[in-house]
Amino acid sequence: VPPMRRAIGGGTMLAGVIGWPVSHSRSPLLHNFWLARYGIDGAYVPLPVRPGLFDVAVRGLQAAGFRGANVTIPHKEAAFAIADHLHRSAVRSGSVNTLVFAGDGRIEAHSTDGDGFVANLEAHGVDVTRGPALVLGAGGAARAIVASLTDRGIAVSIANRTRARAEDLAHALASPETRIAVTDWDRWTDGLPDHALLVNTTSLGMHGGPDDVFAPDLARAPAGMVVADIVYVPRMTPLLRAAAARGLPVVDGTGMLLHQARLGFREWFGVDPAVDADIQALLDADL
Ligand code: ATR
Repeated sequence: VPPMRRAIGGGTMLAGVIGWPVSHSRSPLLHNFWLARYGIDGAYVPLPVRPGLFDVAVRGLQAAGFRGANVTIPHKEAAFAIADHLHRSAVRSGSVNTLVFAGDGRIEAHSTDGDGFVANLEAHGVDVTRGPALVLGAGGAARAIVASLTDRGIAVSIANRTRARAEDLAHALASPETRIAVTDWDRWTDGLPDHALLVNTTSLGMHGGPDDVFAPDLARAPAGMVVADIVYVPRMTPLLRAAAARGLPVVDGTGMLLHQARLGFREWFGVDPAVDADIQALLDADL
């Protein structure tokens, strides 16, 4: 049972999630749970904003004293454009999911997906610096995750159905410090022995997605390889079930969702909330 919410009043700090549609977002559930848990006078609301009305909505929220907002489909590009200051996470990932309305009137923009992904691995006791990572997919989520991994000095291989997108991603993140290779989608399992971490960022295995049964052959996965999926419905994806059947440690996508939310909460409300069994259970019950 979630803790009781406080009454809303003049001192209530406000934040929300801007999207269209936005009713399916789990963010209000998570943030309001933490607000109650920490006794913070705050509220977090869904903000359905039509395409084309993003800027006027953000200016209105800012004028009304909101602390900031999460941004989801279809407004991520508009969020990038409206920012006065792009944090490194936003620049590297090429996307924005969290806006902070600073006291001086500036709009600061972050992308919390990649760091949320890595924080979740660390919370599971995974030493991400241990070895190279093989990332499946080359969309927005992949870019955020590859950015966060390479920022930590980890070598990454990317395999994507459309190879050109993987090459574009590698190019966008190229720097003297980063090591990014592109491998063939048709033969990505051949590369398993050279990696310590496998991450699925594609929608394969998502319930009702393009391919419900994505159970690749993990026979070549080295012992101890960590297998992570960002899909979280179902929580145990076919990929994770195949990994678990081989005795490999698995990390499901719910933790990334919780940790990326955690980073936004910290920006708006000044408390670093715990990702513990209580909030995990709250999320699981809603999936
Ligand atoms: P997101 O921003 O959430 O990462 P996206 O940009 O739509 O979403 O990316 C979806 C990813 O899933 C892409 O890597 C996509 O591969 P393509 O670039 O070739 O489109 C991948 N994907 C989706 N359906 C797929 C399928 N049936 N087989 C293989 N990859 C698929």
